[in-house]
Amino acid sequence: MRALIEELCSVFGPSGQEERIREAIVDHLDGLVDEMRTDRLGNLIAVKRPSASGERGKRIMLAAHMDEIGVMVTHVDAQGFCRFTTFVGVLKNTLWARRALFAVGVDGALGRAGPPPARERPTPQKLFLDVGADSKEDARVQVGDTAVFRSSFGAVGDRLFAANLDDRIGCAVLIETLRELESSPHEILAVFTAQEEVGARGATTAGYGLDPEIILAIDVTATGDFPQATPMEVALGKGVAIKVMDRRMIAHPKVRGWLEDTAQAFDIPYQLEVLEFGSTDASAVQVSRAGVPAGTVSIPCRYVHTPSQVADYNDALGAVRLLVNALSGEYPS
Ligand code: CO
Ligand code: ZN
Repeated sequence: MRALIEELCSVFGPSGQEERIREAIVDHLDGLVDEMRTDRLGNLIAVKRPSASGERGKRIMLAAHMDEIGVMVTHVDAQGFCRFTTFVGVLKNTLWARRALFAVGVDGALGRAGPPPARERPTPQKLFLDVGADSKEDARVQVGDTAVFRSSFGAVGDRLFAANLDDRIGCAVLIETLRELESSPHEILAVFTAQEEVGARGATTAGYGLDPEIILAIDVTATGDFPQATPMEVALGKGVAIKVMDRRMIAHPKVRGWLEDTAQAFDIPYQLEVLEFGSTDASAVQVSRAGVPAGTVSIPCRYVHTPSQVADYNDALGAVRLLVNALSGEYPS
């Protein structure tokens, strides 16, 4: 799965332009599911029908988002410098001096008006993208083009570094879960969602269309384990996190209990997560139609929504083990 994470992190796919990452995921799902389709919003829906009959078999939606944060060009000036707006989740004070990449392969450097700042962290109003052009005519990008952040994928031991572990690591966990799940009494609706970073839009329509009985999101979560982090229990390398609550979702106690019981039964290290900012696709599906019991399997990740994200490979492996074991058994009555 490590190679899979690295591969998925290398594919371009900001919100609304998920074509390339979707293609990459489709290639890996071949032979793992009974049915695959792309819906109108660009979600990739892969269905695995129940292989064992069980009284408590459910229709379970699993959601991992394909899209990644980025910036969109709003204006190209006469000298070819691009002004931009950020997608909702981007932490605006982390942009200065980063590298960005456009769909057409054009590289950009995030420059800043004026001399390099000593203390101040510049806002997007002071930033621009230098795309190697000398004039507006010369710039190979235009208004509405989107760029994602890029840095080379790195690993030190089991720590993985990439600009978009959110949520390519979750996509890899979902693919690996489908690969390792030998039999299940449940109908598995694995959805690689579009446009999560702009407000779980793909999950909203997929959740409505699929009408699942349970929703589990697979996404990264923040940690409290680095200097001056917002106090939080979750730490890298201490296991998969089972969400209790985030900004827009309270996990259904039965879903959460099912995950916790599974982790305990199979000796899978886990951490309980309360996230005071941010949310996942599960929040959108939870309030779909008449409501759907929801939970989230989280992979701890430092510096989420910055161009330098760090996760621990063992936590991702734990997420796969938790999902495979939970889905292999029956849902508690
Ligand atoms: Co995110
Ligand atoms: Zn995410």
